[in-house]
Amino acid sequence: MSPRASPAFSTGGPFTPSTGASSATWRGPSSARPKPKPKLHHEGAGRGEGGAFLPTPQTAPAPSPNVKAMRVLITGATGGLGGAFARALKGHDLLLSGRRAGALAELAREVGARALPADLADDLEAKALLEEVGPLDLLVHAVGKAGRASVREAGRDLVEEMLAAHLLTAAFVLKHARFQKGARAVFFGAYPRYVQVPGFAAYAAAKGALEAYLEAARKELLREGVHLVLVRLPAVATGLWAPLGGPPKGALSPEEAARKVLEGLFREPVPALLEV
Ligand SMILES: NC(=O)c1ccc[n+]([C@@H]2O[C@H](COP(=O)([O-])OP(=O)(O)OC[C@H]3O[C@@H](n4cnc5c(N)ncnc54)[C@H](OP(=O)(O)O)[C@@H]3O)[C@@H](O)[C@H]2O)c1
Repeated sequence: MSPRASPAFSTGGPFTPSTGASSATWRGPSSARPKPKPKLHHEGAGRGEGGAFLPTPQTAPAPSPNVKAMRVLITGATGGLGGAFARALKGHDLLLSGRRAGALAELAREVGARALPADLADDLEAKALLEEVGPLDLLVHAVGKAGRASVREAGRDLVEEMLAAHLLTAAFVLKHARFQKGARAVFFGAYPRYVQVPGFAAYAAAKGALEAYLEAARKELLREGVHLVLVRLPAVATGLWAPLGGPPKGALSPEEAARKVLEGLFREPVPALLEV
């Protein structure tokens, strides 16, 4: 990998310990609960291999003509977390994807990005998108969907919908993505203790499948010098919660969640698992 200038990166403030949840359900954190620090679990191999161009966020310069921007693809950019990442990474060579073309175009205008709508549960649409964007320095796959049903009620539609949104989209994106050496690819799993609860079997299964898929994929991608980072978040106040009646009290704001993830992401060695 040829030496590269440091990319611009702004986290909007100094590192702050996370608002981690200690609840036994997927109701998210309460502001009254203790606030553990983010836990970083490192890759056994490839340590320090990537990120030569990725400084610690506290010292990273703001975007400037002398600083090489990262090529970043944010999928799920029309969502709460995706939108927050897009705004936090403004100034980079940003490519945004989502299914709702109108909302995507509006966000792209706001942050100076390209809008590339795609349904990523469709292999061919994923292929077309990833061919269009070319080699990436950073991928943030903020795609997902939530749904609640008891196991007595959950039908094929719900189970398939969860698997499509979480597992298939990630699998197709990874299948077709091309990366620069040292790139990071971020995916959102789930704390088992929050999602393996009544009413969330289908969501929990989809996240479990995603995490297992990523664990094997991470080892494959490391051979290409690409760092796959699995992120686990507590509840974040986004539209994901709309079908569930809204986010729980104490949920992180999407901006806060994105900031914490970006801070952990650019540490050395690169974390394989980042628990906020
Ligand atoms: N919010 C939380 O509390 C929380 C906590 C832990 C983990 N997570 C995870 O973080 C990720 C982002 O969640 P969020 O809270 O930002 O959710 P969100 O606001 O509901 O956004 C979900 C995004 O996924 C996109 N999407 C869904 N299916 C898609 C498909 N087939 N192809 C392409 N895009 C698709 C949506 O696109 P359109 O809107 O354009 O259809 C939207 O941009 C998810 O994986 C979620 O499980 C969230």
